[in-house]
Amino acid sequence: LPRDIFPDRINSKGVDLADPLVREPLMDRLDTLDTREWEAAPTITATSYGDKDAIHAPQNRDDVVGWVREATEADVELGISVALEVQDAWNAYGGNARAELLDKAADAFEDHMDEFLSLCRREAGKTVIDGVLEVREAVDFLRYYANEARRQFAGPIDLPGPTGEENRLTLAGRGIIGTITPWNFPLAIFIGTAAAALAAGNCVLAKPAGQTPLIAALAVDLCHSVGIPKEVLQLIPGDAKPGIALSSDPRIAGIAFTGSTQTAQAINRTLAAREGPIGIFIGETGGQNAMIVDSSALPEQVTRDVIASAFQSAGQRCSALRVLYLQDDIADEMLTMIRGAFEALNVGDPKHLETDVGPVIDETAKRSLDKHIAGKKRQGRNVYQKKLPRALRAGTFVAPTIVEIESIESLKRENFGPVLHVARFRADRLEQVIEDINGTGYGLTLGLHSRIDATRRLVESKARVGNLYVNRNQIGAVVESQPFGGEGMSGTGPKAGGPHYVSRFATERVVTIDT
Ligand code: ALA
Repeated sequence: LPRDIFPDRINSKGVDLADPLVREPLMDRLDTLDTREWEAAPTITATSYGDKDAIHAPQNRDDVVGWVREATEADVELGISVALEVQDAWNAYGGNARAELLDKAADAFEDHMDEFLSLCRREAGKTVIDGVLEVREAVDFLRYYANEARRQFAGPIDLPGPTGEENRLTLAGRGIIGTITPWNFPLAIFIGTAAAALAAGNCVLAKPAGQTPLIAALAVDLCHSVGIPKEVLQLIPGDAKPGIALSSDPRIAGIAFTGSTQTAQAINRTLAAREGPIGIFIGETGGQNAMIVDSSALPEQVTRDVIASAFQSAGQRCSALRVLYLQDDIADEMLTMIRGAFEALNVGDPKHLETDVGPVIDETAKRSLDKHIAGKKRQGRNVYQKKLPRALRAGTFVAPTIVEIESIESLKRENFGPVLHVARFRADRLEQVIEDINGTGYGLTLGLHSRIDATRRLVESKARVGNLYVNRNQIGAVVESQPFGGEGMSGTGPKAGGPHYVSRFATERVVTIDT
């Protein structure tokens, strides 16, 4: 069906933080909301009791954001049985009716922007600006996938055939989909993945990251409040255990996962080892994302885009820049400018609007990043590091760092935080640089700053990445405009927020009638 039959998707509402009449009341409301304690529990439970674990704010481990009751294996088992009872009805409900509910959920999310912003910063340590972007992306996903439900699931598609024969193709939900989603986009990826599966006519058991169940619980509650049945969309909070229970149950039609490459491979193996129907697997994983800057680039633009790509969201985006390749004849000048902008970054508690870089998600993440930086220092690399104020000791902060390295090949794994590696290259070695980047096996984002068309064409033709950004930063893919996702070790596709995503959750049925 043509895409332009639904030209009127409304963009999500923004928040004009530059306007004091908007900003100041908002910050007051967030301060009030920050005293609330939230709860998350499985939507369907086999037992009404169970231990609750505290969720702490990454910027201040003494702040208890709320309490979570992890789903047990029995909860997952019951949740699947309950979903199976309503699966056919949800599928038969039709694309238009499902779209209406997803659109209503989008409106409800906008109405509850404040609560989401408070949870984004307290539970996930996000700055207010990142929180606004997160809620907008969640709303965009809901509305975009609603339109995909209308476009692809409204009714059968007639196919050609000889006279006297009718052929009809229908898309239907596959069954029950498990979603396993990460803490770095605790709302947008959580609800985006679920919304796509719901749009296609599947019931969804949604497992958020162990670190961020509270914002997911609010999202699911709002979806229920607009009429998405509890049996159809279920929250399965918890860490690894409920995820394993989901993927190993043969009644689950497939898993959509975003997280590390290693976990994706483990889930895929679990799915493959099950008896019974063959499950589908969608994996969106990590990257070793590079940016190439040649001597034709505009230095001020490069500086701005490097800082945003590497340090916004404390570098905790799968799209974030990890390795900056600077052409050697401009490298010193560029590094001076980048370090100048780097020194101006404010590291701090996200409760302050002026904070540019907040905490990393937890102690495990902090330890791993600090260890990586210490290793580079021991190797005698040039390391530039911002000083962390003493006041930040109560949280899991990592000092933003720039490390000079020889090549991307020296990095064994993704370092998911505010650490930028910088390498130099000679202009005649550009093809080798692209080969080295491809050689990591990852293929998520790549940035290029160059005003030379031949260079752009070369990079475009050789780089094996899902999202190439030219003369801009490489984060913040916009739903529908920049469908997002990688290849190789970075993911299976299809791209989130793109035209092929929802149909991956569907099965195709053809009816042929001899008239
Ligand atoms: N979709 C997120 C971004 O583009 C990860 O930054």
